[in-house]
Amino acid sequence: MNKNICVIGAGYVGLVTAACLANFGHNVFVVEKDPTKRQSLIAGWLPFYEPGLAELVGDGMEAARLSFFGTVEEATLQAKGCEFFFVCVGTPAGSDGSCDTSMVEAAAHDVALFSRPDAICVLKSTVPVGTARLISGQNPQLVVVNNPEFLKEGDAIADFVKPERVVLGGSREACERVQKIYGPLVRNDHKFFLVSHETAELSKLASNLALASRVSLINQIGRLSQALGASIRDVSAIMRTDSRIGTRYLFASLGFGGSCFPKDVLSFVRQCELHGVDPAFARSVIHFNESQKLLFIEDILKNVPKKGHIALLGTAFKPNTDDIRDSPSLAITNTLAHSGYEIKAYDPKSNAHFFNWIMEHKIPNVDCYDVMQSAVEGASAVVIVTEWQEFRGIDLAMLHSLTAENCRLYDGKNIFSRSEAEAAGFIYMGTG
Ligand code: UDX
Repeated sequence: MNKNICVIGAGYVGLVTAACLANFGHNVFVVEKDPTKRQSLIAGWLPFYEPGLAELVGDGMEAARLSFFGTVEEATLQAKGCEFFFVCVGTPAGSDGSCDTSMVEAAAHDVALFSRPDAICVLKSTVPVGTARLISGQNPQLVVVNNPEFLKEGDAIADFVKPERVVLGGSREACERVQKIYGPLVRNDHKFFLVSHETAELSKLASNLALASRVSLINQIGRLSQALGASIRDVSAIMRTDSRIGTRYLFASLGFGGSCFPKDVLSFVRQCELHGVDPAFARSVIHFNESQKLLFIEDILKNVPKKGHIALLGTAFKPNTDDIRDSPSLAITNTLAHSGYEIKAYDPKSNAHFFNWIMEHKIPNVDCYDVMQSAVEGASAVVIVTEWQEFRGIDLAMLHSLTAENCRLYDGKNIFSRSEAEAAGFIYMGTG
């Protein structure tokens, strides 16, 4: 039966959750305390880009199953009571890996104040281990269930409607009630894990550590591959045929970015430190990743003259998103711009965020372009950071014809082979 559900926080996870649940027939009451963001959502404008989400939000609003409010109190009044409250607010990270859970705590407090007695507070935000128990302690009358989110940006809707697993942490009875929400989505019972709060909380951090460490693993192999003159594309392809190794997250790159991997691996390190466990492995994943982002810089400083400019293709941390958080493009831009290079950046979706970042950090010598060709024209080096389809389809000979003499192509996602880039006239460097 369709339920009244309150989703707190219209950020990335909250909006995807709300739109998908509304599309699924539930009445969803979204609480977004930022009035500007709320008004834009009501006007049909999304604060970030995610394929298919604007349409889904529009459908939900048109069907009157998705509405936006400023407070939990307003939402529950309108709903005349909600059975589930999905908490999807941010947990900003400190540089030591600690997470600020104050927004989660405040949301849970509101739920405790304004919900009916049988309501369940579902924690979707990624939280440090121990948060659900902390919240239960602060609000003894509240039933809390963890439901960590495994959405990938760019694929979020597909990930929500076809999850590989649903993790629920808390009492068996409460978890089974939340399971019913997902039941029609996940018909295979084996995909449900009904576990303790701690297991659910740790499973999210552990999954992201595992994926992030695979990226660092292949990048480590890539560096040796480069030194030996071997091909990381082929080494990776060979490794991926081994079913014990698996096929995914083994593509060499300039390192992982985004809102989750860097933050969650750091949070894992922090949890180890707090519980007297040596975090050496997880720490090395972060450390290695930071140095990977700088892979091209030394070569550029040595070989690219400062009189030309550098064309930066892609500033988002991955394709199909406008998210630039922890993208390798930021480390590259920061170092090169401060070393005196002029940078002309182009991204199909994230120019606005990148421009704001440049302004906020007062980075000199950087311009953003709406058309790729304008960024590339006359460039002494082209640096590809993001593997957008638009870049994969580039005619390299045409690209080369736009650039300055002796242009170097730095391919941060190995989307081209050395031979095809050299045949087009580029001096080529990939990541391995
Ligand atoms: C990740 C998790 O996949 C998701 O389950 C979790 O809920 C949120 O964090 P996301 O950050 O959206 O999702 O991106 P993902 O597609 O996992 O990629 C993360 C980073 O790793 C990107 O910077 C990507 O470019 C990089 N990556 C990924 C590689 O460099 N090589 C690979 O082979 C795969």
